[in-house]
Amino acid sequence: MEPARQRFETPDRAFESSMRPKDFAEFTGQLKVRERLELMVQAARGRGDVLNHVLLSGPPGLGKTTLAYILAESMGVNIKCTSGPVIDKPGDLAGLLTSLETGDVLFIDEVHRMQRAVEEYLYAAMEDFVLDIMIDQGPQARSVRIPLPRFTLVAATTRSGLLSAPLRSRFGLHARLDYYAPDDLTTILTRSAGLLGVEIDAAGAEEIARRCRGTPRVANNLLRWVRDFAQVRADGRITHAVAADALAMLEIDADGLDEMDKRILDVILNRFRGGPVGIQSLAVSVGEEADTIEDVYEPFLIQEGFLHRTPQGRMAGPRAYQKFGLRPPGQQAELL
Ligand SMILES: Nc1ncnc2c1ncn2[C@@H]1O[C@H](COP(=O)(O)OP(=O)(O)O)[C@@H](O)[C@H]1O
Ligand SMILES: [Mg+2]
Repeated sequence: MEPARQRFETPDRAFESSMRPKDFAEFTGQLKVRERLELMVQAARGRGDVLNHVLLSGPPGLGKTTLAYILAESMGVNIKCTSGPVIDKPGDLAGLLTSLETGDVLFIDEVHRMQRAVEEYLYAAMEDFVLDIMIDQGPQARSVRIPLPRFTLVAATTRSGLLSAPLRSRFGLHARLDYYAPDDLTTILTRSAGLLGVEIDAAGAEEIARRCRGTPRVANNLLRWVRDFAQVRADGRITHAVAADALAMLEIDADGLDEMDKRILDVILNRFRGGPVGIQSLAVSVGEEADTIEDVYEPFLIQEGFLHRTPQGRMAGPRAYQKFGLRPPGQQAELL
């Protein structure tokens, strides 16, 4: 069977933009991040200035793209969106930057996947609002300085650790997004249900909130599934029982772990005796890309105590042993 996560972690762009909060007031949770960003916006607007560059980091589906749009909206400027791997060569970047108007937001998603050669042009663009482009080759080679409008770079990354120090140091603020608390997810789900026009009670929303890996994207996608289930198997209303049955049908368990999460833990525990196991061997064993394991699955498993990352590789955490009813190595029988 296709792992559930592939369907529920994957962005569906049209659906997502319809669910997207339009301003800070509608953006639930991440209080500290929200406060800092709102303050920056207020200060820049007060001075009639351009917003400082912002780096947003955190696992997929937590609201990085949403915040980029909210920043542009609250500054009253246009936003241009691109992503690291799409900007092939310095000329692509030059094209984007010269098309901006003063104050505009350039949003670069997955900025850690930008090529080094392109990244180096970004330094002067961010700091001095100029591009130094080399034209011609050999003895005719010379550098031409192109002035740029003052703009705001909002960059997003799932892996801020992979960013070079020179790039990272050029952002005015680095906002780190964390997994959401169940209460915030309940609020998000209730709002989304309103937008979808489906009736949901508090217990129904809480049940989905507990089982969506702390991630609004997963919450909204599960909500759509539960809505379908409620329509076909119940009276269309999402109650606690309806939500629980709908999620059970997807094999999403009470901890919110799905097929692939469980496969990862099962392989570490049973094939590699609890680890350590290198990320590449793990990827081959579970049949998933190493990058996807690192970006999507691991952060939540680590935060919840199911997995540890060590210099030797990944190891099962205490909750993984508990969940599979196994005894952690080195633990005496009488301690259990
Ligand atoms: N704080 C939030 N409040 C309400 N909805 C949210 C929030 N954060 C994210 N979402 C919703 O979750 C989905 C994924 O968010 P997105 O910004 O695309 O995540 P990211 O860019 O970090 O992968 C969107 O539909 C968005 O509307
Ligand atoms: Mg995004």
